[in-house]
Amino acid sequence: EKGGYDYFMLKEIAEQPKAVADTLLGRIDPSGSLTLDEVRISPSELREIDKVVIVACGTAFHAGLIAKYAIEHWTRIPCEVELASEFRYRDPILDGRSLVIAISQSGETMDTLMALRHAREQGSKVLAICNTNGSTIPRESDAVLYTHAGPEVAVASTKAFLTQLVACYLVALYLGQVRGTKWGDEIQAVIKDLSRISEEVERVLETMEPVRALARTLASKNTVLFLGRHVGYPVALEGALKLKELAYMHAEGFAAGELKHGPIALIEEDVPVVVVVPSPRGRSVLHDKIVSNIQEIRARGARTIVIAEEGDETVVPYADHLIRIPVTPTLLQPLVATVPLQVFACELATARGNEVDQPRNLAKSVTVE
Ligand code: M6R
Repeated sequence: EKGGYDYFMLKEIAEQPKAVADTLLGRIDPSGSLTLDEVRISPSELREIDKVVIVACGTAFHAGLIAKYAIEHWTRIPCEVELASEFRYRDPILDGRSLVIAISQSGETMDTLMALRHAREQGSKVLAICNTNGSTIPRESDAVLYTHAGPEVAVASTKAFLTQLVACYLVALYLGQVRGTKWGDEIQAVIKDLSRISEEVERVLETMEPVRALARTLASKNTVLFLGRHVGYPVALEGALKLKELAYMHAEGFAAGELKHGPIALIEEDVPVVVVVPSPRGRSVLHDKIVSNIQEIRARGARTIVIAEEGDETVVPYADHLIRIPVTPTLLQPLVATVPLQVFACELATARGNEVDQPRNLAKSVTVE
């Protein structure tokens, strides 16, 4: 049932283009607008929303962090993202105009379930983004947008994450569409880009051999750092989480802008640092700032592993290893930038002799608080 792959995780990484396409299927109509009829919250109710709060754990939380950038940009509705396990214990401010989005692959994560119960008690509407039909979280929510990743067996989440991102983008774009924001034209363009994105994910998968080779050379390292900015920051967090789970290595993701506020002290000779570079188009200021971060850490001896868009030549002189990803709109970049990090972690785990599908101490779904 592993379909010829050594591990479920490898199979699930390879299934990502299909999972992404399946999650989009039937949700973009031929005219290029979104139809999310299954989200049984009416357009007029959605127009009343004055705050979005996303709750989730682990990898699903990282999808939520990325969703915040998309939701706030395309809808101008304030959006908070919180670890489900922290949420209800701080007595969050919620009411009938708050939309709470609970993201969960399994639909059985107890922390997320308790957070959504708390939100409903405060009178908020809850939308679940979930991969498991009929599981508890969608059953207890007001509405659900299913991701169509298919069953995910490996403990480390991969294809579920990409489909959670797709679902988050759909919700953000739909909210923008329903409420009519000044980004109308951009929303139309992004819907088009999204409908082609699974081919880009496929292209990334075809170029992963050098990433595997690189991972094998790092098998004896103790630590790997990840830097990102804007939507690249949650991607860095996700890269670090995958590495912890699978390779049992110390790994940390940082917001690149924080370097000088502390983390740069960790840089020493030959420490591998993976940097997710934003597109030089779009928010070019952020791109330039991260290129100077790469220069700074390299000057202090870091071994730089740079993930950058095709055609971005500015990073070449400072990259010890360069991983190319396709050109995508800034907000969609996580869909392609995360894939090399999954492959990297999986290969490092294999090189270290770890059990890839069943990492020590972890369960696929965490049904206790
Ligand atoms: O089933 P869920 O999406 O609610 O699970 C949330 C986390 O437990 C999960 O993403 C976990 O962090 C994964 N092992 C990450 O690879």
